[in-house]
Amino acid sequence: MTSPIANWSYPNPIRFGAGRIAEIGGACMAAGISRPLLVTDRGLAEMEITKRTLDILDAEGKGRAMFARVDANPTGENLMDGLRLYREGGFDGVIAFGGGSALDLGKCIAFMAGQTRPVWDFEDIGDWWTRADPAGIHPIVAVPTTAGTGSEVGRAGVLTNAETNEKKIIFHPKMLPAVVICDPELTVGMPPHITAGTGLDAFAHCVEAYSSPHYHPMSQGIALEGMRLVIDNLPRAYKNGSDIEARGNMMSAAAMGATAFQKGLGAIHALSHPIGAVHHTHHGTTNAVCMPAVLDFNAPAIAERFDRAASYLGIDGGFDGFRAFVRDFNASFSIPERLSGLGVENPDIDTLTEAALRDPSCGGNPVPLTDEAVRKLYAAVL
Ligand SMILES: NC(=O)c1ccc[n+]([C@@H]2O[C@H](COP(=O)([O-])OP(=O)(O)OC[C@H]3O[C@@H](n4cnc5c(N)ncnc54)[C@H](O)[C@@H]3O)[C@@H](O)[C@H]2O)c1
Ligand SMILES: [Fe+2]
Repeated sequence: MTSPIANWSYPNPIRFGAGRIAEIGGACMAAGISRPLLVTDRGLAEMEITKRTLDILDAEGKGRAMFARVDANPTGENLMDGLRLYREGGFDGVIAFGGGSALDLGKCIAFMAGQTRPVWDFEDIGDWWTRADPAGIHPIVAVPTTAGTGSEVGRAGVLTNAETNEKKIIFHPKMLPAVVICDPELTVGMPPHITAGTGLDAFAHCVEAYSSPHYHPMSQGIALEGMRLVIDNLPRAYKNGSDIEARGNMMSAAAMGATAFQKGLGAIHALSHPIGAVHHTHHGTTNAVCMPAVLDFNAPAIAERFDRAASYLGIDGGFDGFRAFVRDFNASFSIPERLSGLGVENPDIDTLTEAALRDPSCGGNPVPLTDEAVRKLYAAVL
């Protein structure tokens, strides 16, 4: 079993294929980076794939500087630590290396390199991004090591504000990485539960983008094929982590999910962000728990379009068949039916509901989210 090699330039230049991490030096050159800071998380810092990447950089005269004080669901404090090191070290670009947590933090460091305002001023609200000085944004090479968030093709980073316990989406068009290396071999070491949780994040991106009412036919097509890739390949990657063809297809699905959600996200992400910020659960796994209840809630607005999707996806019974499929799909990866199964205890529904209603993902949900609706949805998943 092999995975194809390809170069894509949509939505940004992507070098796709097994073994292409060997091109990391060239990718930096292409992005205009000669002194990179590799940003990753604590766990990955100790792993062979990271050491090998630093060896390649070192051999090409680009040093082996690394910042790894990155938490899962990274925080503003992680950003300040990394930014201090970045500015003092005289770096001229970031290699964001890891899962969504490290990718997002690396992207935020490069974005903030030359900004003077606090990062929270650049939340994805209206035209707040125009407050940034584009000349102060440094280039980014993104190297995903999970197949889920698709942050490598996205223009945003998600940061937790530890003071308010909220996840904030920091957005700027120039936060889009200049070059991406999608090397499925880097994802082979993911244990099954992370494979599932991250893969189901990609699935949630496709499902929510496909459900969003905004007019964006390109995203609609990408979301549909992204769903198919997850359905066909996540079970294989979960059962056999070394199945490089399945790993490659999941990596594509992740990039497609994030490309598609330019059309909008929805209630799954709006519910999940506050849970992740307060209870520190894994993002994609939290989404997976929330998906069945959100599909039920959105049914009146999405049934018809999912009737069409189901036939393409090889699922009998139209939208109802799809709903049943999602429950079985979750169960096949041992995803709990309730958030208590992820360790969420004593949730404060008032605070969670307020935060969910403020989340920008709300805007893409096909049925408007009211206070009452969000409380009902939380009651269904908690
Ligand atoms: N920017 C975006 O568009 C976007 C979209 C969705 C989610 N997110 C954010 O991304 C974060 C979640 O990212 P994630 O799901 O990739 O998880 P993650 O980055 O938190 O990683 C999860 C765990 O997997 C480990 N890991 C990563 N790669 C590995 C590998 N190859 N082998 C073994 N272990 C590995 C990490 O060390 C970590 O312990 C959340 O903060 C979420 O809010 C961002
Ligand atoms: Fe997500």
